[in-house]
Amino acid sequence: MRKTFITMCFCLIGSLTFAQELRSPDSSFSLQFSVNDKGTPTYQLKYKGKSVIKTSKMGLELKDSISFQEGFAIADTKTSTFDETWKPVWGEVSQIRNHYNELAVTLDQKSTQRTIIIRFRLFNDGLGFRYEFPEQKNLNYFIIKEEKTQFALAGDHKTFWLPGDYDTQEYSTVTSDLSEIRGKMKAAVTPNSSQTTFSDTGVQTPLMMKSKDGLYINIHEAALIDYSCLSLELDDKNFILESVLTPDAIGNKGYMQAPTKTPWRTIIVSDKAAGILESKLVLNLNEPTKFKDTSWIKPVKYIGVWWEMITGKSNWAYSDLSSVQLGVTDFSKVTPSGKHAANTAHVKEYIDFASKHGFDAVLVEGWNVGWEDWFGKTKDYVFDFVTPYPDFDVKELHNYAKSKGVKMMMHHETSSSVRNYERHLDTAYKFMVENGYNSVKSGYVGNMIPRGEHHYGQWMNNHYLYAIEKAADYKIMVNAHEAVRPTGMSRTYPNLIGNESARGTEYEAFGGNNADHTTILPFTRLIGGPMDYTPGIFETKISAYNPENNSFVHSTLARQLALYVTMYSPLQMAGDLPETYNKFLDAFQFIKDVAVDWDDTKILEAEPGDYITIARKAKGTENWFIGSSCDENGRVSKINFNYLDPAKKYIATIYSDAKDAHYETNPQAYQIRKGLVTSKTKLSQYCAPGGGYAISVMEVKDSAVLKGLKAIK
Ligand code: NOJ
Ligand code: CA
Repeated sequence: MRKTFITMCFCLIGSLTFAQELRSPDSSFSLQFSVNDKGTPTYQLKYKGKSVIKTSKMGLELKDSISFQEGFAIADTKTSTFDETWKPVWGEVSQIRNHYNELAVTLDQKSTQRTIIIRFRLFNDGLGFRYEFPEQKNLNYFIIKEEKTQFALAGDHKTFWLPGDYDTQEYSTVTSDLSEIRGKMKAAVTPNSSQTTFSDTGVQTPLMMKSKDGLYINIHEAALIDYSCLSLELDDKNFILESVLTPDAIGNKGYMQAPTKTPWRTIIVSDKAAGILESKLVLNLNEPTKFKDTSWIKPVKYIGVWWEMITGKSNWAYSDLSSVQLGVTDFSKVTPSGKHAANTAHVKEYIDFASKHGFDAVLVEGWNVGWEDWFGKTKDYVFDFVTPYPDFDVKELHNYAKSKGVKMMMHHETSSSVRNYERHLDTAYKFMVENGYNSVKSGYVGNMIPRGEHHYGQWMNNHYLYAIEKAADYKIMVNAHEAVRPTGMSRTYPNLIGNESARGTEYEAFGGNNADHTTILPFTRLIGGPMDYTPGIFETKISAYNPENNSFVHSTLARQLALYVTMYSPLQMAGDLPETYNKFLDAFQFIKDVAVDWDDTKILEAEPGDYITIARKAKGTENWFIGSSCDENGRVSKINFNYLDPAKKYIATIYSDAKDAHYETNPQAYQIRKGLVTSKTKLSQYCAPGGGYAISVMEVKDSAVLKGLKAIK
């Protein structure tokens, strides 16, 4: 009896001291977890036998307390398997499989008599892990000084990176080896209205890398709730990335109360670039939605009184006053500047255009008082979100839009005066409901108030979620600009239909985006969730709207169409002005036709920084839409149509670059051709430098319409 007992103890200690191994359901990944001789938890990850993450330390440094970094012993391990298929409210596909093997390691820190759990989920496309802090006698409130999670990479990978920053992601992506980051950092930090970089080798997530032996690796986080956003600090001698959390105004990085947990740290890996784009790992690591009724959440195609202000053709502000005091300044006595775009007559023109061309909604920016001194003054009471300028008639526009079958989209620029926004939030949402608005674009331009807080800190992350949850009480959908980068939370809160959190189309009017920008974003920013990129700019010379603005759009017109497919979002804007679309109605037809919600998605070609071609099947139909975007070099794209139903015939309309198109010298040169396609069709399609193409593939029910149409080749 005694002998058996001793043998059992030996086995238990033996198995818990040695590395714990976990494999993905298809065995392509293997994870090893162990505690080193100092009692520090470590992990390593392999994919198809290749090292992705070498032995890397895990832990957290605490303030005024012994840290969770050493002195741990494994107390227990549990493994389990999970396999379910769920249906997103909106998405790139109609069903998502969530299939993983799990290892939960309970770790005891003897000296403090505290326990933490590290939970690993290994999927067929990568790894997620998080720290959990169960309820216990010796752990209640604690403050995080820094998270100490390492990602020790296997080499000097090619990396698509943004400078690490606690306030903005509105940078151009730099493509370089890891070892070159330090040398390129200074030039990469371009000005922004609020920015706080933290190191010469600090970078943001989602971080996309490619190893010299062809592995595609993406590091990000999932379910960023009640915690600070993750950045990564690179040790460029050893190629080890380590977590850096966003601090608060006094330098602390997280206020925790057990039981609690961190967000998931995610590593997506594939030997094909397409595998990164196909991954649903980040969504799968978020909780299912708690909303009982989601029928009010609908994908939206919209236009807006917006680009004319971004380009400098018109103003957000009503007047040229240099200072405004809400409730004191009497706007009925103020002389208008004559450049205020959000006036009733002009907004009606947008509503007419939206109604005529089948758009769901019209966004109007600059409708509410306060824009005269909204920015750069760190003024607290900037907007009240309910008081329109005298030339914007809310009720009349509500009735007009309703009569035309168009929704109004609200705009709440907070100017980062966040306390002020929260004070007004209920009234602001109520005002929206009363006036027929069911979606809001919010914005967080400039430095944060409370002063010293950062856009990506725990305090702000709690605010963004508060605004989303409160919006749901009013059945309002949210599209937050300058907010923290998404981490798949739209699974839980599907009324979060968009975010900006990257350098959007607006930068085409502020000096331009790199020609390869949209071949990178799907591998980086979009890994966390959809982006309100606001494509569809047909007038590529900004000086056509504002002679003083010499920026130009770094894309051909045809590629602007492709972005509706390649830049996935359930919220898509036609960014340009109606007067311009009226000049290009044949090309505009694609924007009218393209869907915003999908049953299926096929990644046809992909290489980050070079090209992306995607086909998507429109929700509830047999119609497909294809988009292809390439870098400044141009190329010939070769695709097939074998995803089409072989029993069906389709008319394809191809919107492509003309032979002489070029994003710098001849961006508006496009051609449109129609033809028959079937599941057997193969296509070689030229893409100009900075160009691309878009195709609508519509099922033909009546073969008579095919008469005279040639097959596409
Ligand atoms: C920045 C946003 O990204 C842009 O879309 C908006 O027009 C301005 N802020 C003003 O709120
Ligand atoms: Ca912005």
